[in-house]
Amino acid sequence: MYNFDKEFDRHGTEVIKWDRLAQDFGKEDLIPLGIADMDFETLPEIVEALKKRAEHPTYGYTFQSKEYYNNFITWNKKRNNIDLKKEEILSMPGIVCANAFIVAALTDQGDKILMCTPVYDPFYKVVEQQKRTIVRSSMVLRNGRYEMDYEDLDRKMGEGVKLFILCNPHNPVGRVWEKEELEKLNALCKKHNVLVFSDDIHSDIIFKDHKYIPYINISEDAAQRTVCAAAPSKTFNVAGIKTSVIFSKNAEILAKINEIVTAFHVGVNLFGFKTFEVAYQFGEQYVEELCDYLKSNAEYVTEYIENNIPKAHTYVPEGTYLMWVDCTECGLSAEELMKKVVGSGVAPNDGAHYGEEGNGFIRINIGTQRRRLEQAMECLKKALA
Ligand SMILES: Cc1ncc(COP(=O)(O)O)c(C=O)c1O
Repeated sequence: MYNFDKEFDRHGTEVIKWDRLAQDFGKEDLIPLGIADMDFETLPEIVEALKKRAEHPTYGYTFQSKEYYNNFITWNKKRNNIDLKKEEILSMPGIVCANAFIVAALTDQGDKILMCTPVYDPFYKVVEQQKRTIVRSSMVLRNGRYEMDYEDLDRKMGEGVKLFILCNPHNPVGRVWEKEELEKLNALCKKHNVLVFSDDIHSDIIFKDHKYIPYINISEDAAQRTVCAAAPSKTFNVAGIKTSVIFSKNAEILAKINEIVTAFHVGVNLFGFKTFEVAYQFGEQYVEELCDYLKSNAEYVTEYIENNIPKAHTYVPEGTYLMWVDCTECGLSAEELMKKVVGSGVAPNDGAHYGEEGNGFIRINIGTQRRRLEQAMECLKKALA
């Protein structure tokens, strides 16, 4: 049994979530529920493997071990029913970095890149920074659940979109896209010949009664027009180590991306390779227990808000450790809302960062000990009562 209730001090590790509160929010004494890493210890086997490697006092150039590939391939076959071969996988430092390479490799300046909003804000930045054009499709809330607006997607793809960026599961709204939804999306991508980048960084964190469906498994067509990204960073709380992969069934797409990566001489360091290898070898039980803990946190937060903060509304996400809290009934601007919430002692993310649909929302990171969440909820109640 892993102990996710165990508390320890993260200060002094130069971790943004805890050590940059004063800079980011104007004061130190806050419960940080923002940036998406967790306050949990990683898998003990990762710590052991890194210690062991660090003990050898040479840190020269390294490459991926056979196990690096095998463990990831086995994990994906067993858990996600994805059949992968070594040559379909490319190592990447981070997934935002991979996103930038993919945009550079598969689109040209001015090309339209479509995404469902609100969405993880670096999606916008990557597109803007490379002078491509962002096309947004607002999701629709149906029976309390965000869905893609297929008519809108059809219309916008019809106006000449080159690439669709999918987030599965979706940050910040916590949807784990269902097979039928991805099939409808694929039908549109096929109709309009749109390539797909599926950012699946959160795909291990899926709650009971939901299933992660990899977009590349939807059809042969989907597999051929898609590049997908995955990483142990969210799952095992190793985001600072910067170790991820992209994979694709389309060798031509992968070669184009590899050409750019090679031209920029970017790579993963030896600790990243080791972390990746060990995570997918020993991590299964950790993930199972983590998902149970996170789901119970999400249920607690949902119930607390329902019973104590009448002007705020949320729901248990289908995956991810991020919750999307609607505070629009408070009638505050995004700025006023954040000021009030931070003033009460808690630091979530401002929903407006994820697109204009997020005005009046906050995003809460529940990847923390229950006791801390309970304290945070008291603060939120004070702020929004
Ligand atoms: C959808 C999504 N992609 C990528 C990232 C970050 O990836 P990386 O740290 O590997 O660049 C995050 C982090 O929150 C995320 O939510």
